[in-house]
Amino acid sequence: MIRIVLLGPPGSGKGTQASALGRRRSIPHIASGDLLRANVREGTELGRRARPYMDRGELVPDELILDMMSERLSQPDAQEGYVLDGFPRTVAQAEALDARLREIGRELDAVVYLRVPEEEIQRRLAGRRTCAACYAVYHVDTMPSEKEDVCDKCSGDLIRRDDEAPEVIHTRLEVYEEQTRPLLDFYRRQELLREIDGTIGVDNVVREIERLVGAAHAAAQEQKA
Ligand code: AP5
Repeated sequence: MIRIVLLGPPGSGKGTQASALGRRRSIPHIASGDLLRANVREGTELGRRARPYMDRGELVPDELILDMMSERLSQPDAQEGYVLDGFPRTVAQAEALDARLREIGRELDAVVYLRVPEEEIQRRLAGRRTCAACYAVYHVDTMPSEKEDVCDKCSGDLIRRDDEAPEVIHTRLEVYEEQTRPLLDFYRRQELLREIDGTIGVDNVVREIERLVGAAHAAAQEQKA
């Protein structure tokens, strides 16, 4: 079983690739953004506190995220592996994840950085549609649903997310540069970082992640032997 983190700017394809990888590997795809949006939709205390940050395109404070992720990662389906999408997103979150893994005597297998140029990100976010019920992700040009605005998987409504207004996207990209990009060096120092061209098509990106993670896993096993 594998533990992977997908890193990359908004719209780089973390959710799309994480979902495909989770299905192929039979491990949960755990997306902090989806968990937060579910809390907002259900009107929980966490959702109420997180929403103003999300609407502005800023990060939700670490303490709220760490409680939410700690609860999710302790569920039975996450004990043997997972693919994380959107978490960690600050150095403090990455340190907390490391501490948790140390406690249970486990390690990450790899941190995969999806490299996508900004013009492509703008194009992707402008055409993205998300299922309001199951969070499946589509694109009006490159990954359209069979029936317009209807999810292929659960027949839910396909919508634009609240944080897709141009000014909010601008803030999210700035926040990524300031607060999340430093994680590339954090994981490079741990020799966990693997970089992938995120523009090569969904199936190719997933295959490339599988190849890199498989190689990292094999190298780690060899080192232990
Ligand atoms: P979150 O939901 O995590 O959003 P994000 O990181 O900004 O990323 P996105 O979901 O927008 O994009 P993605 O990289 O998943 O791309 P996708 O697969 O959709 O976070 C939202 C908010 O929640 C944050 O702003 C913050 O407020 C809060 N938050 C969440 N986690 C937090 C944390 N840990 N700490 C603090 N706050 C947190 O793909 C985009 C489009 O591209 C789609 O249309 C897709 O079809 C298309 N596409 C994908 N891959 C390809 C490909 N290979 N080729 C062609 N098209 C592709």
